[in-house]
Amino acid sequence: PNTTLLEVLREHLGLAGTKRGCDLGDCGSCTVILDGDPVKSCLVLAVAVDGSAVTTIEGLERDGSLHPLQKSFVARGALQCGYCTPGMVLASKALIDRKPDPTVEEIKEALGGNLCRCGSYQRIIDAIRHWRDYVGVDEPASPAGKGDGTHRVVGRGHPRSDAPDKVTGRAVFTEDIQLSGMLHGKVLTSPHAHATIRAIDTSAAEALPGVKAVITGKDVSEVLYGVSPARYDEQVLARDKVRFVGDEVAAVAAVDEATAERALELIRVDYEKLPAVLDPFEAMRDGAPVIHEAARNKINVNTQVDHHFGDVEKGFAEADEILERRFTGNFTYQSPIEPHCSISQWDHDGRNLTLWSATQVPHYLQHQMSRVLELPMARIRIIKPFVGGGFGGKAEAMALDFCSAYLARITGRPVKMTYSRSEMFHHNRGRHKQYMDLKIGIKRDGRITAVDFGNVLDGGAYTSFGVITAYYAGFMIPTLYKIPNYKYFGRRMYTNKPPCGAMRGHGVP
Ligand code: FES
Repeated sequence: PNTTLLEVLREHLGLAGTKRGCDLGDCGSCTVILDGDPVKSCLVLAVAVDGSAVTTIEGLERDGSLHPLQKSFVARGALQCGYCTPGMVLASKALIDRKPDPTVEEIKEALGGNLCRCGSYQRIIDAIRHWRDYVGVDEPASPAGKGDGTHRVVGRGHPRSDAPDKVTGRAVFTEDIQLSGMLHGKVLTSPHAHATIRAIDTSAAEALPGVKAVITGKDVSEVLYGVSPARYDEQVLARDKVRFVGDEVAAVAAVDEATAERALELIRVDYEKLPAVLDPFEAMRDGAPVIHEAARNKINVNTQVDHHFGDVEKGFAEADEILERRFTGNFTYQSPIEPHCSISQWDHDGRNLTLWSATQVPHYLQHQMSRVLELPMARIRIIKPFVGGGFGGKAEAMALDFCSAYLARITGRPVKMTYSRSEMFHHNRGRHKQYMDLKIGIKRDGRITAVDFGNVLDGGAYTSFGVITAYYAGFMIPTLYKIPNYKYFGRRMYTNKPPCGAMRGHGVP
């Protein structure tokens, strides 16, 4: 009775063209047409549609030919990663069925519940306005095509080669994959920003029917991982201490996600809360709680970048004006519509691992899996299906990847793990908050004589891409302007918050 239409479509009927993005009715990637109206299938109970007509993206093609609306999406490049695309197409189809020639305002209104994080909105609107141009057209060709016939490629617009698969729901993303005998995993995370772990009792979770394995820090490798070899500081599951709300503590594999979630509620963790540091300037103070004991000699400084050339004091002396100002760039989060998902499967003898992951960096993931699992890279195969947006947030190995591998090895069955939308906010690696103090010397003719740039980055609990971010923040400024005298001093501080990482030009001011 609690099964949603989305679950029935994807898991019972194998119609994976209907995408799972948020389970909250917010993103629109699971849109289907129900008796002529677009609905979010994650919000509709399957029993409620008994006797109704449900159209999914798989139902738009006729006799192997795309619907003209799909052709228009293809020809006009109205998609990028493609994860929102089936929902966008169906919301648009419901609109043109009601009103074949909608206005731009009507299109915007109709797509109000469908998000595209790749930002294809203008092209989507354009594709809907011109869908009739593709009625009776066999091959969707780009409207920008102006070739003179001499060159078949140069000077013409061309549809993306993967667009037909994306507008039909054929493009397979990691969460779409179902393997025989597959289990589902979930991760238990810390409710505290900073605490030591005194004990973990998993006995009740292990006894729950349907639970196949429970792991904690003692069951996984002690090898630390991360992005920068000089700063490997992440653990697959916390052993002694948690450092942010969301730090991973235990993981469960069960016959389905709901059972795995129930099992998480039965795990008892005895924490001793520690004072938390939530501000990078607090983190610098003498006597501030130390987040990583191994870095005690530097207190909470995660990385420090000192870069200068010329003579800034001389440059300021030559300036006609001096501007001093603090600029602050806030945290932001990538929020790709596709949640992160990992599926691990071992060969029958447990020697070789195949991992499907919604990753931007399959080679890097292979390298980190090899280090942590202490296996040669040749025994680890990483498969990156289509990825539904990343923007830097899927650019590093994640606890989910390691946990699915451990759980699959213990159970001898494939294990799929998917972050919920709220888990994504804890585990993805958003943009650093930066406090940028700039002193700039300027001549009246517009020349810059000197720049002194002091920067403090709020890094969160682990390094992630932070070494590189702190470096980019300082090294990019002299690439924009001719600056003869330059001084940069950047410090990335550890704080008890979700780690920040690579988000679209990270660090670049
Ligand atoms: Fe819309 Fe990527 S194309 S979310």
